[in-house]
Amino acid sequence: MLSKLRPLLLALPCLLLSGLAIAEPRTLIFSHVVSEDTPKGKMALMFKSMIERRLGDQFQIEIYPNTELMDDDEAVTAIAEGRIHFAAPSLSKFQNYTNRLMVYDLPFLFADMDAVERFQGSAQGQALLTHMSTDGILGLSYLHNGLKQLTANRDFSQPDDLAGLRFRIIASEVLQKQFELLDAEPVPMAFSQVYQALANNDIQGQENTWSNIYSQAFYEHQPYMMQSNHGVLDYMVITNADFWNSLTDEQLQEFIFAMEMSVKYGNAVALAKNQNDRAALSSMGDVTLLEPTSVQLAQWQTAMKPLWQEYEPLIGAAVIEAALEANQVP
Ligand code: LMR
Repeated sequence: MLSKLRPLLLALPCLLLSGLAIAEPRTLIFSHVVSEDTPKGKMALMFKSMIERRLGDQFQIEIYPNTELMDDDEAVTAIAEGRIHFAAPSLSKFQNYTNRLMVYDLPFLFADMDAVERFQGSAQGQALLTHMSTDGILGLSYLHNGLKQLTANRDFSQPDDLAGLRFRIIASEVLQKQFELLDAEPVPMAFSQVYQALANNDIQGQENTWSNIYSQAFYEHQPYMMQSNHGVLDYMVITNADFWNSLTDEQLQEFIFAMEMSVKYGNAVALAKNQNDRAALSSMGDVTLLEPTSVQLAQWQTAMKPLWQEYEPLIGAAVIEAALEANQVP
């Protein structure tokens, strides 16, 4: 009997070893376009370290910052197709998949980031996270960057002043219309190309958060800035729906916990960075930072707000209503 089992017993270590070889940790890809020293960059690093600490024998996360792997437009498609596992594109970058997220591009819709936070926590805001899952894109969480500011290479204070300037935009229909309303020329462009385009004077203006203006050194070619707070640049942390559904309950718990913690951290970084980077910019000798009066701000609002009505049929009245309700402080 033993002699019959002998070949099997001899083969056992090899079988075990090959079993171990198969159990190499799986590599998961997290792609983004900003530097590591940004709210999103730091959030991704914390997520990686938490997952690898708890599930390192099963998963390793490779982060590709600074558009090293792909830009955000491709990242959204790569998530849908399951080629990468995590990304956190700006909410303006989903227009090939949905119209409803255009709500975040409507100018002057949100009073401040607290209102954005309240909307994101509302039933409408939460439904937006999952409504692309049939396309393979599952939103796990929102992540803040902050409110957008206008910058240009010449002085400006009222909407007419931007007429004729070429403004870089994220490829988004609403953002395109926003600049057309100002008689400026919107130029859709990937984030990674903006600095060089400003340096070459291919574009003369752009809109972004304090933290992106600072970390990308846009100020070197954009000495005029207005604290317009006219729009929001937030992110959706997304994953591929099939990948997510393939996780065991135990793995899922760890991923959800790591996501919650790292998003909390990223949001705290966003708040601090936007405050610090604004202060750093305003103290630069060659930067002029305009804080518009309420009368000046009203002019910008009048110029841009017609978009709310124009896009209501595409976004849905209930979504816009929920966003406006979020402006009420409870
Ligand atoms: C942009 O393209 O301006 C932003 O989406 C970049 C980012 O991810 O913050």
